[in-house]
Amino acid sequence: MKFFIDTANLKEIDEARSLGMLDGVTTNPSLISKESVSNQKEIQKHYISICERLKNDENVSAEVISTNYIDMIKEGEKLSLLHPRIVVKIPMTKNGIKAIKYFSNKMIKTNCTLIFSTGQALLAAKAGANYVSPFVGRLDDVSYNGLNLIQEIKNVYDNYDFDTKILAASIRHSLHIIECSKIGIHAVTSPINVIYSLLNHPLTNIGLEKFIKDFHRKIK
Ligand code: G3P
Repeated sequence: MKFFIDTANLKEIDEARSLGMLDGVTTNPSLISKESVSNQKEIQKHYISICERLKNDENVSAEVISTNYIDMIKEGEKLSLLHPRIVVKIPMTKNGIKAIKYFSNKMIKTNCTLIFSTGQALLAAKAGANYVSPFVGRLDDVSYNGLNLIQEIKNVYDNYDFDTKILAASIRHSLHIIECSKIGIHAVTSPINVIYSLLNHPLTNIGLEKFIKDFHRKIK
């Protein structure tokens, strides 16, 4: 399973790299707004800084802010020209689907975001999106089981052998990652603290403490 880091913060990306848990990066307008950027030029430079930290087949999703078709196309083409590792992130709207179709025909990679239903994921795959981002945590927040959506999308995509990869997003805790890995999807994207929550277990800490204590009690 690929671990993408859901952040625009360069330090967090470097930390994920040092942990060996960096297979890609996803951003969104809210995450970008947290960084010290104040205009389009600075945002573009920031995306390039992220791309320069990536290697092999790793990529970064950079989201358009435009909502009408023509501006989405213009913005998306500008983003894709910044660096070969840019994947253009497009919201699941009528104009978004049209834009994904356009980019698919031009071999520009896209990630269809703000997916909350199987129907939306089906449309995104048919339009030729390279990735879909179903938001697990935000469904949980409104008392729907976000993981059920991941399973349903996987079943539908397997029925038709779609090339579109499922990149589960809005991942809030380790169980989301574990359950997504059981379902067998391509990737999850989460803040690095959620990856750390996979790592920590109290019995590991207790066991290690006892090993060291027992050892030093005998071996001076
Ligand atoms: O970036 C898309 C998604 O991962 C956002 O997650 O935690 O804001 O619902 P969250």
